[in-house]
Amino acid sequence: MSSSRRILAGVALAGGLVLGLGAAQAASPAAPAASAPAAHAASAQTAPPDGWPKWPASLPTPHLPSKHVTQFGYGSTPSAEQIAGWAIAVAPDGAGLPPGHGNVDDGGNIFSQKCAVCHGTFGEGEGNYPKLATGSASLKGIQPTLTVGNYWPFATTLWDYINRAMPFYLPHSLKPNEVYAITAYILNLNNVVPENFVADQHSLPLVKMPNRHGFIWHDPRPDTHDTECMHDCRQASAITITSTAEGKPLTPRTTGPLDEMQPK
Ligand code: HEC
Repeated sequence: MSSSRRILAGVALAGGLVLGLGAAQAASPAAPAASAPAAHAASAQTAPPDGWPKWPASLPTPHLPSKHVTQFGYGSTPSAEQIAGWAIAVAPDGAGLPPGHGNVDDGGNIFSQKCAVCHGTFGEGEGNYPKLATGSASLKGIQPTLTVGNYWPFATTLWDYINRAMPFYLPHSLKPNEVYAITAYILNLNNVVPENFVADQHSLPLVKMPNRHGFIWHDPRPDTHDTECMHDCRQASAITITSTAEGKPLTPRTTGPLDEMQPK
């Protein structure tokens, strides 16, 4: 048999197994959902354990575990040191910021070496790379320009983001002092802190970002209050739209063609 025919035969068998399982489960609705992956399990036996779907007699005998699998036995428990390597999150209130400090001047030097190629020397953004600071940036209009200064609510999040994600080609490679210095520089570019600002774990949480109160922190949904109609409902075609968000400066996604609510 050529290898391509062998592959075809394998695919056909796999398809048959899936269909077969589906049918078996439909026939015994009380059966537990666990099913196909059991075919990979180690210990083999001839009949499915109690409570498993009946296996169609026409198919080859599957290999099933003798009891339900409760753990896979992969990997090993990480050490406290290994966990610490991943637990780098910094909270808005500054919890998680490590010791260290950095000033605006030093930040400017590091930024020009490691960041300016993409973000521009003064954060103005090269090409399509994100702008981190520009005087004229505005959140108004349907295509707002988001910068650190006009958008980000917390300076501590800037520290976290740079620490974990930048520079783009070598994330999480900066030392805490470097991240503090660059954070100070970017905040200064955005006129959020003065030139003599020193960023550290005490000063960053105190920085008041301009858009700090521009976010809605609670989830307003559901924001409609009609009860669902399940029977004798109005025909969609009989409903007229009296007002829409189209053309109003709400979100960029309100500019498409109006849905006439006609039956489709
Ligand atoms: C090779 C290009 C490149 C370099 C170099 C680079 N970045 Fe970035 N940066 C990006 C890209 C691309 C994004 C957008 C990533 C995304 O949205 O997932 C980004 C996003 C950011 C953002 C978030 C912008 C926002 O408002 O969403 C910050 C802050 C930032 N970079 C800081 C830095 C700093 C600081 C350095 C230097 C240590 C640096 N970047 C180096 C490409 C780069």
